[in-house]
Amino acid sequence: MHLKASSPKSNKPAPIKVGICGLGTVGSGTFNILQRQADVITRRLGRTIEVTQIGARRDNPACDTTGINITRDIFDVARNPDVHILVEMIGGYDTARELVLTAIDHGKHVVTANKALIAEHGNEIFAAAEAKGVVVAYEAAVAGGIPIIKSLREGLAANQVEWLAGIINGTGNFILSEMRDKGRDFGDVLKEAQALGYAEADPTFDVEGIDAAHKLTIMAANAFGMPLRFDHTYTEGISQLTPHDINYARDLGYQIKHLGIARRRDSGVELRVHPTLIPQQQPLAAVDGVMNAVLVQGDAVGQTMYYGAGAGAEPTGSAVVADILDIARLIDHPTAAVPPLSFASASDLNVLPIDAVETGYYLRIHAKDHPGVMTTITRILSNYHINIDALIQRERRDTDGCADIVMLTHKTLEADMNTAIAEMEQHDDIVGSITRIRLDPLG
Ligand code: HSE
Repeated sequence: MHLKASSPKSNKPAPIKVGICGLGTVGSGTFNILQRQADVITRRLGRTIEVTQIGARRDNPACDTTGINITRDIFDVARNPDVHILVEMIGGYDTARELVLTAIDHGKHVVTANKALIAEHGNEIFAAAEAKGVVVAYEAAVAGGIPIIKSLREGLAANQVEWLAGIINGTGNFILSEMRDKGRDFGDVLKEAQALGYAEADPTFDVEGIDAAHKLTIMAANAFGMPLRFDHTYTEGISQLTPHDINYARDLGYQIKHLGIARRRDSGVELRVHPTLIPQQQPLAAVDGVMNAVLVQGDAVGQTMYYGAGAGAEPTGSAVVADILDIARLIDHPTAAVPPLSFASASDLNVLPIDAVETGYYLRIHAKDHPGVMTTITRILSNYHINIDALIQRERRDTDGCADIVMLTHKTLEADMNTAIAEMEQHDDIVGSITRIRLDPLG
């Protein structure tokens, strides 16, 4: 069923009525943009957008909600027959899922910025929306204000996407930039990111890569026309990185960025989030602080890059409002809707396990400083056909009688690298765990 905005007797089309659930950072940004840009929106759309109801646990002093029906029960909005589009800005999983499914059940279109909801429950939500003939839009769920979903779904629709790689967590990028530029410790920078409001309510989502994995899952589904496969996305965070590794990488001509990478291969799709060495001259290496960027390789267009603010009230609100406008246009022309995951039929591409991925590697090996150590290391690597591309060993500075041996390898199968690392770590000459960071030239 489609909820249509009924036209009055005059030629002027009736307003589209929006209900906003959640008036926190993104909810307030969305509300304020809708109020401030009312004129330009009306001119773009040919009709007005009216916020008829807000469901929020508390008022937000950043928003002037005078004259708007406010309810403390967000489900009132999902059931309100006077609302065409429900804007879900409460975040989280269970209540958000129930709210969105209730709204769909009541024939409402939905706009959400909730990446966890879409990545983990999107398949169920889109099926429910399709059955009801309504749209669920989620541009704001990935990379805040950057229109990456629209680009993948529409702007790049002529292409086979070969791969994409993105800096899609601003908190993680801010932490790495500060560690690199100021030699600061991970924990210290994380505290600042939390104070500045960049981090998620639970910052482990940022630093352990879960937030980026949610966003990568959504981008990959749109790029490759596959279902959302969050449970198959390999996820590694940045909490184990040290300033040593950042400095060694820089000395070798690389930067460490926390990337989400989706790559199509003959045997399936790689979906992986992890710290990655990329060449200094790679455009993504210049993306610093809380900024986000996504690089997409299409077979027809080549590389395109999308850069901008990945979080914040108005940047994210900008994407939410764009979705509201899209849906407002579709309300009277529902057959023009782009499928939620970009393809009318999903492909059954399998996601490759991380063991089947081939990349270059950075290794930092803390080894006893005595004759023959290098022979031990190179023998084990050579047993697994691992080819060294660059090597550094500095004068010994540590007081434990050990030195850091740092190397880059050519492309190696992850399974081989795991076995080689395990074998090296068992050797008496190798002390502690070997640090391994994947390397990708993104070419
Ligand atoms: N915590 C997220 C980030 C916010 O740092 O990118 C936007 O999703």
